[in-house]
Amino acid sequence: MEFTDVPQPAPQAHEALIKVEAFAPNRGETFLLERPGPGPLPGKDIAGLVVQAAADGSGPGVGTRVTGHPPQGGWAEYAAVPTHSLAVLPDAIDSTRAAALPLAGITALRLLRAAGSLTGRRVLLTGASGGVGHYVTELAAASGADLTVVTATPERGRRLADLGAAEVVHEVAAAQGPFDVVLESTGGPELPTALSKARPGGLLIWFGQASRTPVSLDFFDLLGGPAGVTIQHFHYAGAPYGPDLAALVRLVEQGRLHPEIGRVADWDQTADVLVDLRERRVRGKAVLTTGAAR
Ligand SMILES: NC(=O)c1ccc[n+]([C@@H]2O[C@H](COP(=O)([O-])OP(=O)(O)OC[C@H]3O[C@@H](n4cnc5c(N)ncnc54)[C@H](OP(=O)(O)O)[C@@H]3O)[C@@H](O)[C@H]2O)c1
Repeated sequence: MEFTDVPQPAPQAHEALIKVEAFAPNRGETFLLERPGPGPLPGKDIAGLVVQAAADGSGPGVGTRVTGHPPQGGWAEYAAVPTHSLAVLPDAIDSTRAAALPLAGITALRLLRAAGSLTGRRVLLTGASGGVGHYVTELAAASGADLTVVTATPERGRRLADLGAAEVVHEVAAAQGPFDVVLESTGGPELPTALSKARPGGLLIWFGQASRTPVSLDFFDLLGGPAGVTIQHFHYAGAPYGPDLAALVRLVEQGRLHPEIGRVADWDQTADVLVDLRERRVRGKAVLTTGAAR
């Protein structure tokens, strides 16, 4: 990765131009960088200041602080963001925390909706110490789930317990099932192990493959496991992001959601931070700052 000058983005009619104060990379974006080439610039999670309002009259006006989820181009000084992917920030939420919200937070909200009511239900979450995992942990626990989380280290586990996890284990095999719902994002051999922990008729939502190792399932192994478990593939994209982003901002403002930010660095450290993110050296989110914040 290296810095380069590119033309300032020219917003379309439904886009506002944002002066980016902070941005947050995501594990999935680091995968895309493995095949660099011409095309969209990376960057989906930003916070900053509106410097040009959308020409169609939608969205916030000049001078408004916002967080946003553009389709691309967020790792930059300026980004064009569709106004339906913006949420206004109160003064109490700084740009660093705001930039940590979009992709991971929206994913957590939509994943929990896909899981249905978790009140009083037993839930297993893998990859829990990541950006998505901390949000899922806090929101699921607050809704009354009995949550078991999987994370590599005791130190990470303590933070997840603070956020409401009832049990912390360091490998999926150690989780004490059966679970009504399994939320799985690591792939490889861990998905079949997690699947074996579901209750008969339970639900496994498969939302990632952080290990990059494909999953292989053996029909005959499943015969020995819980009967009739549903495996549901999940992708967060779909409905406009603005309303969910505004909900996340509201939860943070009310002290009901606490972005876990394991690394804050100047954006000249972006390459190093991406490596640390990929190597599991960041707890929760990493945020890069451009120096543009007030
Ligand atoms: N389906 C969707 O719409 C959607 C949306 C967003 C993200 N995702 C996916 O959801 C997953 C979590 O995203 P994220 O942004 O929260 O990622 P992240 O911050 O990098 O967190 C992933 C966590 O998984 C754990 N992990 C366990 N085994 C791993 C392995 N073999 N390699 C790497 N990490 C491993 C790590 O925690 P420990 O080291 O503590 O175990 C890591 O902190 C990713 O796979 C991502 O691609 C999917």
